[in-house]
Amino acid sequence: MKHQTLRPFPNDFLWGGSTSAYQIEGAWNEGGKGPSVQDTKTIPSDTSDFKVAADHYHHYKEDVAMLAEMGFKTYRFSIAWTRIVPDGDGEVNEEGIQFYDNLINELLKHRIEPLVTVYHFDLPAALEEKGGWSNRATIEAFVRYCGILFDRFGDRVKFWQTINEQNMMILSAGAVIGGGATTMKETYQQNHHMLLAQARVMKECHDKLPDAKIGPAPNISTIYPKTNDPLDIQAAQTFNAVRNWLYLDMAVYGRYNNVAWAFLEANNATPDMEPGDEETLKSGLADFIAFNYYSSGTVEYYPLEEETDSVEADQQKGQGVPGFFRQVEHGALDKTEFGWEIDPEGLRITANDIYSRYALPLVITENGLGGRDTLTEDGKIHDTYRINYLRDHIKQVQLAITDGVELFGYCPWSAIDLISTHEGFRKRYGFVYVNRSDFDLKDLSRLRKDSFYWYKDVIASNGENL
Ligand code: BG6
Repeated sequence: MKHQTLRPFPNDFLWGGSTSAYQIEGAWNEGGKGPSVQDTKTIPSDTSDFKVAADHYHHYKEDVAMLAEMGFKTYRFSIAWTRIVPDGDGEVNEEGIQFYDNLINELLKHRIEPLVTVYHFDLPAALEEKGGWSNRATIEAFVRYCGILFDRFGDRVKFWQTINEQNMMILSAGAVIGGGATTMKETYQQNHHMLLAQARVMKECHDKLPDAKIGPAPNISTIYPKTNDPLDIQAAQTFNAVRNWLYLDMAVYGRYNNVAWAFLEANNATPDMEPGDEETLKSGLADFIAFNYYSSGTVEYYPLEEETDSVEADQQKGQGVPGFFRQVEHGALDKTEFGWEIDPEGLRITANDIYSRYALPLVITENGLGGRDTLTEDGKIHDTYRINYLRDHIKQVQLAITDGVELFGYCPWSAIDLISTHEGFRKRYGFVYVNRSDFDLKDLSRLRKDSFYWYKDVIASNGENL
């Protein structure tokens, strides 16, 4: 591509990193915390559960000191709903409030801006038992819980994110939503309830905290057509709408995307609306768009007559709906050892797609490489593959900024090692190595990986030394 003169990263660019509560904290039944769906779900026998995780609950000061040593300007983490309201909609747990008070104060002490996700895959188990997101009462519980967060932490937290990767929960992680949806119609009814809940919470945030900013947190990847056959292009248009634009059109405009809605109609899956729902969806809109990006995706047309049993899907692969689209390999992209394609240019394309549709400031809240790191005998972790992945993506972030995208921060996944959503502790993402394996907790000590020193220099040079 023709050479462009690169624009520098803005001086106040928020360099940071991300985690989520159930993947990092541990202490699953301490400090008054109630169980979440992550504590009660069935875990595959070859991966760790989430009970201890990286034991951040007991190491948070040490962990924040390491983030500060890297020079983090921001830290994106999530609050566990079940630490604040253990059964989802009952008593407030002051010990849980205290933990996040301490964490936020520790961050601010090091001049690290907290970027808080209110809900990251960890619905209270007590609400799941009452139907989870199939039950409209969960909307009320969520709005109440978020109101508590705004009241208790809003004096110090200026950046909020609503629901992490709602699109991925709908497309491939139904079990953690509760309610046991078995049809597409039920799934999109749950989705509708979550969208209502999100709009109510964005409104509540604006009402209570006029100086704060709030936005959604979907996983957005531009979807490529496999060929220039118009059927493949239509397949890509539909999957882009169903995977990406449904969620962003709703957060920014408060309405369903037309292509996504037509797809739902064709599949008898449009949600039932109650009087007032359309107004509610428009009543709370986003101030910025946070998005997670790991890779692009590629689809082709999926003829009805070729319908086969569905393949195992995750955030980045395996999606398909007969008569519409099915995900296929790109063919020319490298992959991580866990099978996710690597497409740095796709990040620039995705950022441009989002910004040219919505013209809101963007922040990247996840991007990273999961790998099996090796700890050498002298306590080193030579994760050159991770440095290469991040370097290539940061270059594309700068190109997107050069293209005119208003991009105010970059938070790779993950700040320190934690448990993968479905592949255990062996799939690591962090700059900081946590000394444990899936089934041996060892000493949980923290060690700086090569990527730690590299990222420290990237931040210190504001992205000049890559
Ligand atoms: C995102 C999630 O989907 O991807 C994180 O928000 C998750 O919770 C991350 O950990 C990486 O995925 P995985 O499955 O490799 O842990």
